[in-house]
Amino acid sequence: MLLNKTENEVKEKIMANIYTPKDEEEIFAPFSPIIGYKKMSPSFVEKLNNSMDEKMEDWSPNLVGKVTQELKFTKELDKIWATEMGSFLMKYQSHAELYTSLGKRNIQPDIFDYRVDVTSGWFVRQFENEYNPIHVHLGSMLSCVGYLKLPDGIDEEWDEDYKDHHPANGHIQFVYGHAANHTGSNCLMKPQVGDFYVFPAHLHHLVYPFKTKGERRSFSVNFTISATYKDQTQEAKSYAEQEKEMEVAK
Ligand SMILES: [Fe+2]
Repeated sequence: MLLNKTENEVKEKIMANIYTPKDEEEIFAPFSPIIGYKKMSPSFVEKLNNSMDEKMEDWSPNLVGKVTQELKFTKELDKIWATEMGSFLMKYQSHAELYTSLGKRNIQPDIFDYRVDVTSGWFVRQFENEYNPIHVHLGSMLSCVGYLKLPDGIDEEWDEDYKDHHPANGHIQFVYGHAANHTGSNCLMKPQVGDFYVFPAHLHHLVYPFKTKGERRSFSVNFTISATYKDQTQEAKSYAEQEKEMEVAK
């Protein structure tokens, strides 16, 4: 059935990810998991390092890492992390909304309250010759990794490794889809103390071993960003109605 102009306009607004060129020429990448990067403050890195205690709950039975120790965050640490990273996570959420709707939908803090719900957080203590096999994180919408410590002297190992055509020692690699022409399928990150990455929990990733003696310490947190109406009397709306409300103001 043919829709009249008004119905078509309404439909286009609701179906948010219809591509609309804004310029005479555009090159764009509409398909990709979204990764956010932030440099954490030195004081936050120090706080997390000082919070780590070897008596914390052993979280390794839930994880795939072939590493020395994986220690679960306390509830208090979950909260400290969510408070510290909250505003950046909302920037990430905003970017993701815009990206996945081709610029037509954004977060609406005037209508919704957004919340970061932590499922679990943990420290990863990886030493020389240890590694983390390819995996995804289950039970949450998003996950992240932050770097807290590196072995003394790892820069020399990296200087040597970077002479090779494919350096990877101690790096994290994200993998998505499969190799194809004009399509990115993976990326590597060289960890630096203070680096923080947020990514969709179902994005495959792995960590390569390194040779330098000492600890490469990181943390991960699994979490979900949820939105609830500020106006508690508001009746539940369909997904299409919610999407329309979240449309970017033109
Ligand atoms: Fe992981």
